[in-house]
Amino acid sequence: MEDTDESVRVSVTDHPMVMAAASRLALVGAWQRILDAEPLTEPMDTVDADLLVAAGILRYDEGRYALAIEQPWFRNPVAIANWAPAYLRRALRHALGGSTGWTAADKDIVLAQGRASAAAAEFIAGTVLPSLPVIAARFDAGTAVFLDVGVGVAAISLRLANRFVGVRAVGLDVLPEVLELAGAEIKDQSLGDRVEVRHMSVADLADEDAYDLAWLPHMFIPRDAFEQGLRRVQRALRPGGALVLPLAAPDADTPPIDQALLTHEAHVLGGGPLPAEEAEALLAQAGYGAIHRHLYGDGLVLCAEKD
Ligand SMILES: C[S@@+](CC[C@H](N)C(=O)[O-])C[C@H]1O[C@@H](n2cnc3c(N)ncnc32)[C@H](O)[C@@H]1O
Repeated sequence: MEDTDESVRVSVTDHPMVMAAASRLALVGAWQRILDAEPLTEPMDTVDADLLVAAGILRYDEGRYALAIEQPWFRNPVAIANWAPAYLRRALRHALGGSTGWTAADKDIVLAQGRASAAAAEFIAGTVLPSLPVIAARFDAGTAVFLDVGVGVAAISLRLANRFVGVRAVGLDVLPEVLELAGAEIKDQSLGDRVEVRHMSVADLADEDAYDLAWLPHMFIPRDAFEQGLRRVQRALRPGGALVLPLAAPDADTPPIDQALLTHEAHVLGGGPLPAEEAEALLAQAGYGAIHRHLYGDGLVLCAEKD
């Protein structure tokens, strides 16, 4: 069927088979070969790669596939191999009438989402910390303490603890089954002395002046708990510390169908959408000072400092 109406076209990266092809290429190592400018030899790899060329994600030049989109995300095969299956499983669960909000019902989703989220640690190290030199120095010196709200399987905390020797992390989550998985991952990596997880909502966090940097992914956190959590985290940060707040925030330049997809996903995940202006107003009400905006892939991340 010919599609003549641009306004109803679904973003091509949201086509299930495009995501599946990217994920498979990442899983079998072919994505890394593309990044290394090596040729693909397996027939199914080239079939997948051709689909991604048509989708505008790869290009094909002189016998080699290469990235057509320069985004750090596309340079991370582990994130691609985990994010797409987590997204597709969530879509299937939704299609089959699954509940709204984040649950531990499907352990494979929890693990895949967690491993994909480890890419956030690279974003924190490569983009957030360079904009916060005092906190960056504490990470480099191994004296920083990181608060990981919605710690899940602890992928972000573990990645940061591995990357910054000496840095400690405290993770909070409301799902005991997820924290059990986190415990196993922490044990596997022998990081029990530096990564601690607590079964508690961010709304109940009682620490004061304890953390240098906090991560709070609002899209997973029900609105009441999120708003209380913003205040609790502000109190828990050390002076000069900062909160990193990734947003499911459709912006005005995003095509309408992509805005609708983002809004829909934020509802499905449990936190609901949060436009940047509203988030900035909530941050100000909760007592934060300067706010920086960063781009993470296509998404917006706010970084709010505690004076
Ligand atoms: C998808 S996960 C984050 C993934 C994580 N980075 C990992 O490594 O697995 C988001 C988590 O937020 C948790 N969450 C939801 N509401 C919360 C709250 N009020 N306080 C703390 N965590 C919460 C969910 O249970 C879920 O495990």
